[in-house]
Amino acid sequence: MAASSLPSSSSSSSTSTMGIFLTLMALAILPQHALGITRHYELNITMLNVTRLCHTKSLVAVNGQFPGPRIVAREGDRLLIKVNNHVSNNITIHWHGIRQLRSGWADGPAYITQCPIQTGQSYVYNYTIVGQRGTLFWHAHISWIRATVYGPLIILPKRHVQYPFAKPHEEVPVIFGEWFNADTEAIISQALQTGGGPNVSDAYTLNGLPGPLYNCSAKDTFKLKVKAGKTYLLRLINAALNDELFFSIANHTLTVVEADALYVKPFETDTIVITPGQTTNVLLKTKPQFPAATFLMLARPYATGAATFDNSTVAGILEYEQSPSPDSSTPVSVKKLPLFRPTLPALNDTAFAANFSNKLRSLANRQYPANVPQKIDEHFFFTVGLGTSPCDQTQGCQGPNGTKFAASVNNISFAQPTTALLQSHFSGQSSGVYSPDFPYNPLRWFNYTGNPPNNTMVGNATKVMVLPFNTSVELIMQDTSILGAESHPLHLHGFNFFVVGQGFGNYDPNKDPKNFNLVDPVERNTVGVPSGGWVAIRFLADNPGVWFMHCHLEVHTSWGLKMAWLVLDGKLRNQKLLPPPADLPKC
Ligand code: C2O
Repeated sequence: MAASSLPSSSSSSSTSTMGIFLTLMALAILPQHALGITRHYELNITMLNVTRLCHTKSLVAVNGQFPGPRIVAREGDRLLIKVNNHVSNNITIHWHGIRQLRSGWADGPAYITQCPIQTGQSYVYNYTIVGQRGTLFWHAHISWIRATVYGPLIILPKRHVQYPFAKPHEEVPVIFGEWFNADTEAIISQALQTGGGPNVSDAYTLNGLPGPLYNCSAKDTFKLKVKAGKTYLLRLINAALNDELFFSIANHTLTVVEADALYVKPFETDTIVITPGQTTNVLLKTKPQFPAATFLMLARPYATGAATFDNSTVAGILEYEQSPSPDSSTPVSVKKLPLFRPTLPALNDTAFAANFSNKLRSLANRQYPANVPQKIDEHFFFTVGLGTSPCDQTQGCQGPNGTKFAASVNNISFAQPTTALLQSHFSGQSSGVYSPDFPYNPLRWFNYTGNPPNNTMVGNATKVMVLPFNTSVELIMQDTSILGAESHPLHLHGFNFFVVGQGFGNYDPNKDPKNFNLVDPVERNTVGVPSGGWVAIRFLADNPGVWFMHCHLEVHTSWGLKMAWLVLDGKLRNQKLLPPPADLPKC
């Protein structure tokens, strides 16, 4: 296969003039890159001083940028991304939503597919993007480091392949984040020790900027400058740690065209709902003429749990370019223009969130079919939610009734191993690391969304669910109201899944499957389990490896709302996990 390299995006460029010359040579020789090319990136993890809200802190950053750099590739390309760890924290990077066909070693979750990259060490993430195009993102996948270590991952369609919508005038990544004045590693380690809820963020950000609604922040505002009469593609990414978000632009309607790097049937909406881990592409059609106004774009949380949360609002500004008018009047100063503000749903508007997710449908056409598993080999029913674990502090704990907060799947709070699951599986040394007996159902049945049971304690173990290659899976995820009902954005590594059904209350195995959509359900990698409800997903386990599944609210992951699937090799040569790379970090 012919391979060439594109200039690296890293600040300490590893690309020589010779490299660029060779790239141009390769581009000149090859008529078309039907097979995709190899792209090299280098991510240097260093500390960076950043000031927001008049607070300066030293944070973990990539290539001296916050948020981190964009990674851009085409469907079919191979990526070689060298990560150099120059900070004192352990680091891993996850390519959120990349399927990692047979290349689980490059997936990134710490202690699941790899041991972390230690201080002074490097690791090259090596994977090929197969059958995917759209917006994804990358982020650190260890502790709470992803609070500041994240950036867009953009997969363009293959050369000469069009979008299934009119080509936009411009494409703009808009990445939501959360800003904490304090050090996020200190916040989570203190919370895990005391057993209480961690401190909430001080601001939300758009492309790293909190905007004018916060104190001492007006100069840190994201401005989207547009021309009248054009269509813009906004690549929205929720990289916030702990909060689902509503997003809206005043006086403009958005057309949703893609979710989690999969095209959807276009639909219009004034407000979108986006959970941590989700990405959404929307088309923004600007006014036909200069509107003589500016428009706020706002995001604030959709929050359902009982815990306190950051209820503040991030604002960016949509600004129109003033074309020189024919009567040569001087342009109006932006400051003098009226400023419009959108209305967002109430902070706990679960009906809006449910209605929005019901509108998402796969294209399900000849070019982009929805290959929903129709015949199911294995049915699983997992409860997800919060609980408690016993206090181990002499001074008492700050969780409910002096316990510690915990979270679980089927009442098992996942215990993080000290070595990577994938390595211990591959080398046949899994005993003592994990057990292959994750339960199919909760061991004890109760009214999941009714009055909480007396005993709220969770179990603690490192268990995986083993699936033979090509098992077709149906999984019901049921929220529990043990410590109050709450929406949980569940993310599955290694696969996309189809969201075939959802509802409120307890899932009814006799009634609910009749309403499943097996024709054009949305396909994605992260789904919100409705607050006090359930969601049904289906996927085909055609990717051998160990695949993490967890709540993408980082605090819930820290408390144990996570588990792993172990998908075994198939019989054929191309159905087996590839061997580990030589530079795979050791624990
Ligand atoms: Cu975006 Cu396992 O994470």
